[in-house]
Amino acid sequence: MTGPESEGPLLRRAVCPGSFDPITNGHLDIIARASPLYDVVHVVVMINQSKKGLFTVDERIELIREVTAEFGNVQVEAYHGLLVDYCKQRDIPAIVKGLRAVSDFDYELQMAQMNYGLSGVETLFIPTSPTYSFLSSSLVKEVANWGGDISHLVPPVVLAALKERLGQD
Ligand code: PNS
Repeated sequence: MTGPESEGPLLRRAVCPGSFDPITNGHLDIIARASPLYDVVHVVVMINQSKKGLFTVDERIELIREVTAEFGNVQVEAYHGLLVDYCKQRDIPAIVKGLRAVSDFDYELQMAQMNYGLSGVETLFIPTSPTYSFLSSSLVKEVANWGGDISHLVPPVVLAALKERLGQD
């Protein structure tokens, strides 16, 4: 036999990259909607050594694993380097990103074009649910830091982790 059948079933795979410091309901919305579109969704915490996070990379991974376990096809890991190198090393042809608002578009378009030019890896955008169009990890941390209610913006385990980290439990 020749062709793809001879190499076993082809898995449709995509990567959802980010800092995830910490994962929010906005991220989860995108991962939940990517999950049925692909056989495997790789959620990758991109390590940026110049940004000191509130959570360590291992803590972020653990939180993401907990809140994505129900999907059954989400793999979580960290990567230090270019996103397209992560994709090439694992033969992943597509990056999936959420677009919250027009303000995201300029930078996301630049990154998508750069990543395609570097490697041929495509970027696909999922429009974020309007419920979360204003949501970012930075805003969640800022509001939580001042004691604001963010219980509707993050999963319960993340809320507990934030309260513990900010000394509010
Ligand atoms: O959650 P964030 O911080 O908005 O995610 C941005 C991220 C991590 C997806 C982006 O900065 C990225 O892909 N970084 C990896 C390094 C890289 O490939 N840079 C070139 C992008 S064209």
